[in-house]
Amino acid sequence: RQPVVEIAPESGSLEVVRAAAEGCTACPLWAPATQTVFGEGSETARVMLVGEQPGDQEDRQGHPFVGPAGQLLDSALREAGVDRDAVYVTNAVKHFKFEMRGTRRLHKKPADGEIAACHQWLDRELKIVHPELVVAMGASAARSLLGKATSVEANRGRFMPFGEQGRLVITVHPSYLLRIPDEYKQEAFERFVQDLRMAGDFLR
Ligand code: URA
Repeated sequence: RQPVVEIAPESGSLEVVRAAAEGCTACPLWAPATQTVFGEGSETARVMLVGEQPGDQEDRQGHPFVGPAGQLLDSALREAGVDRDAVYVTNAVKHFKFEMRGTRRLHKKPADGEIAACHQWLDRELKIVHPELVVAMGASAARSLLGKATSVEANRGRFMPFGEQGRLVITVHPSYLLRIPDEYKQEAFERFVQDLRMAGDFLR
């Protein structure tokens, strides 16, 4: 497969960087995955949402957050008054990591080394979009953005300084809301919406 591009270009538009990321082989996840799923949204977005990695649907369709977690994210964004078209949506890791269970491809958490190998792409997205607020959804996003393991529960829902002038909010990953028992779902969803309102308020 070619071209083999492992180093994110230092300059260029999102389109240039996105095209380079298509050929990334910087970690082993590219081989079984269908394609690189790069971030999407406006280059001038003031808010960037960062997830963990594409899921099964995202891997097939080539777009971030279009599967079940994406639908949940969309309804939480609606409830929080955040227009998805006004934010840039991406992931810490740009290839789907999975294991086969029968014919199903089950999500596997990315390893720290995979998050680190993919950080160059997220870094380029941050430098180009230059968001004023970054929302880290889940532990993998927080690890990539902050460069170290950071507890989601202990740090969620408050502004933290990020970069030179930016701010960061940590919240849960929408997939977490799909996994927890039904009786906790509503409350957990509302807390997620509450965290996303920080982005909504920010955009108003
Ligand atoms: N989960 C993620 O973290 N990102 C996606 O794009 C889809 C599911």
